[in-house]
Amino acid sequence: MATTTLNKSNIFFEPDSFSNLNSYLKKNKFSKIFILVDNNTFADCYPILAESCPLLHTAEIIEVESGEQNKTLNTCSEIWEGLSEINADKNSLLINLGGGVITDLGGFIASIYKRGISFIHIPTTLLAMADASIGGKCGVDLGNIKNQLGTITQADAVFIYTPFLGTLDTRHLKNGMAEVVKMALIADKKLITDLHNGKKQLEEIITKSVALKTAIVKKDPFDKGIRKTLNFGHTIGHAIEGSLLATKNELLHGEAIAIGMIIESFIALDKKLISKSDLTIIINLIKPNYELLKFNKSQYKSILELIQHDKKNKNTIIRMSLLKGLGSCIFDQEVSLVQIEKAFVNYTTLIES
Ligand SMILES: NC(=O)c1ccc[n+]([C@@H]2O[C@H](COP(=O)([O-])OP(=O)(O)OC[C@H]3O[C@@H](n4cnc5c(N)ncnc54)[C@H](O)[C@@H]3O)[C@@H](O)[C@H]2O)c1
Ligand SMILES: [Zn+2]
Repeated sequence: MATTTLNKSNIFFEPDSFSNLNSYLKKNKFSKIFILVDNNTFADCYPILAESCPLLHTAEIIEVESGEQNKTLNTCSEIWEGLSEINADKNSLLINLGGGVITDLGGFIASIYKRGISFIHIPTTLLAMADASIGGKCGVDLGNIKNQLGTITQADAVFIYTPFLGTLDTRHLKNGMAEVVKMALIADKKLITDLHNGKKQLEEIITKSVALKTAIVKKDPFDKGIRKTLNFGHTIGHAIEGSLLATKNELLHGEAIAIGMIIESFIALDKKLISKSDLTIIINLIKPNYELLKFNKSQYKSILELIQHDKKNKNTIIRMSLLKGLGSCIFDQEVSLVQIEKAFVNYTTLIES
């Protein structure tokens, strides 16, 4: 895994070609290069990448079917077996070309295979560019428990090429924006205003989000403290996402997190961590762009069960990252089931209003 560092954080914005990636590939002599794609990124992104990077013409493509339902140990096993069969060695490189599913999956595959081979991310969705490709968290779901298995392993480098977003539909762009909204709410009051005004270019928003996340991860790479603030909206959001996984109401990650952020903000209000006017700002930022789903009884039951499964809880106490004012967040906040249920009731009034 001897790879050459190109800059301090190893995150590169590739304005119009892949010059940084090309020099990375030239500097590092890999025995074999594999590119993990899903069917969409193979069709929409791989041809653009291959055209700019002649060194990738001999790379082997590993294609998986797109979608969260394939972020499983089963998919990993098939790929590990395939790598093993062709004797992929320790000096191989895995390139993860795709959205957050591919970067989570590929990072995990590479971090485990032969106790770790080199991998890089080339994120192709807004969500992956602004969030998932940064910070080293990778892993898979176990049944409907999101990211239950995983490691924190940093990619050798991340190459962000925003023209890939040209083929992404509006629903997935909004999906990615949810994580940017989260980043603003937990760490950057000015960004909240900028997002409200809608004046910032997508490139600027991605750069800002990457910088905010990188700064947090640098302070706490292994999720023992401040990094937990990135989980704002996720204790409830993940439970919503998990409970609807593989049903006809399945939500995208960001869509579930958007709802999670609203419900967790009601909890913050209840705990007097934010004011009513803060809550109004949060709701106004989220409500116009995301569908606020009403959950039926069985969905609600399964959401509450999943919340109690959440990895951030110690023993049976539910702990969450909650906003403390706008642009600031605190972690390990104890929340009772009664407070959660009250927040769900308050959330439901928003749907009806
Ligand atoms: N590791 C982290 O820190 C972290 C952070 C946030 C989210 N995540 C994870 O990220 C995942 C969600 O990521 P996502 O929303 O990117 O999902 P995704 O990878 O499933 O991509 C969304 C869809 O867009 C398609 N696609 C990707 N790039 C495209 C392009 N350029 N043009 C056209 N179609 C394209 C994909 O095939 C897929 O159908 C979740 O599993 C979530 O848990 C991880
Ligand atoms: Zn997320």
